[in-house]
Amino acid sequence: MNLLEVKDLRVEFTTPDGIVTAVNDLNFALNQGETLGIVGESGSGKSQTVFAMMGLLAKNGKISGSAQFEGKEILNLPEKQLNKIRASQMSMIFQDPMTSLNPYMKVSDQLTEVLIKHKGISKAAALEESVQMLEAVKIPEARKRVTMYPHEFSGGMRQRVMIAMSLLCRPKLLIADEPTTALDVTVQAQIMDLLNELKKEFNTAIIMITHDLGVVAGSCDKVLVMYAGRTMEYGNVDDIFYHPSHPYTEGLLKAIPRLDTEGEILPTISGNPPNLLHLPPGCPYQERCHRATEDCTYKAPLLTPFGENRQRACFSDWETWEK
Ligand SMILES: Nc1ncnc2c1ncn2[C@@H]1O[C@H](COP(=O)(O)OP(=O)(O)OP(=O)(O)O)[C@@H](O)[C@H]1O
Ligand SMILES: [Mg+2]
Repeated sequence: MNLLEVKDLRVEFTTPDGIVTAVNDLNFALNQGETLGIVGESGSGKSQTVFAMMGLLAKNGKISGSAQFEGKEILNLPEKQLNKIRASQMSMIFQDPMTSLNPYMKVSDQLTEVLIKHKGISKAAALEESVQMLEAVKIPEARKRVTMYPHEFSGGMRQRVMIAMSLLCRPKLLIADEPTTALDVTVQAQIMDLLNELKKEFNTAIIMITHDLGVVAGSCDKVLVMYAGRTMEYGNVDDIFYHPSHPYTEGLLKAIPRLDTEGEILPTISGNPPNLLHLPPGCPYQERCHRATEDCTYKAPLLTPFGENRQRACFSDWETWEK
């Protein structure tokens, strides 16, 4: 049994201008200890995909499909049941740690509160575990710093505190929604290294959300490339990285900063993602696609399995592409 199995997940928002389908029939699965990267530009539906699973959708959102965690349905659960699962089974870290940390509470109180609530241990034992977890995420002088307030930590250190908090109850799944975007490049790399180490230490499965395919290469097993709420391509990281089969993935790959091209302007994909309220008929990516043919303007390519656990939604014959 997979740890997480998502089938035909769909998220629709009712707006004054019509229905926005932010997530359009997504399918993916994750095993214990595996890392899945969800990649795509801003607005492609990455956050709403995981918000739906964590019960964090806005009020005008509606979910359909299924997401099973250890064989149990977690979509549309009542708040009480969700609260039990959140933190102890699956937990989430956000781009800005201050969305989850309370600025007016000492870090020690915030960490111990989680443990006391979910594990029912004593305050002293909870404090000891909290210090150990801060040490695990490599906060220097953790014992001294645990009693500080969040604002007394730097941005990178705050993200470490957030990671520590999310791992306190040893969740089987950690969802990281662009956890390094707000940090500078060096700190980003340190946080990614840390997550990779922790994944091994605690055997946590991770869903890593990012717009940077480069982040995925170093840390993920599987990748799901999203565009306009749909899967463009899904497969093992090496296959996707070395043999992309979708022109959108090709575009994202070209936009990865590399050390040997430092200072050069990176080729970004020209144009913008389509307005979800006025999607063109056919493939949503057609207007920006350098491989589009007339077919793509009126027929939407279906997501089709091929090779070893791969899927793609594109008509072009990728095996004949010039590299
Ligand atoms: N409450 C809402 N009502 C209507 N549309 C919404 C609502 N919340 C999100 N959306 C739309 O859903 C789409 C997907 O949003 P989502 O936040 O998942 O994007 P994302 O891929 O996480 O982007 P980013 O990289 O900017 O975080 C966007 O077009 C967004 O405008
Ligand atoms: Mg997002």
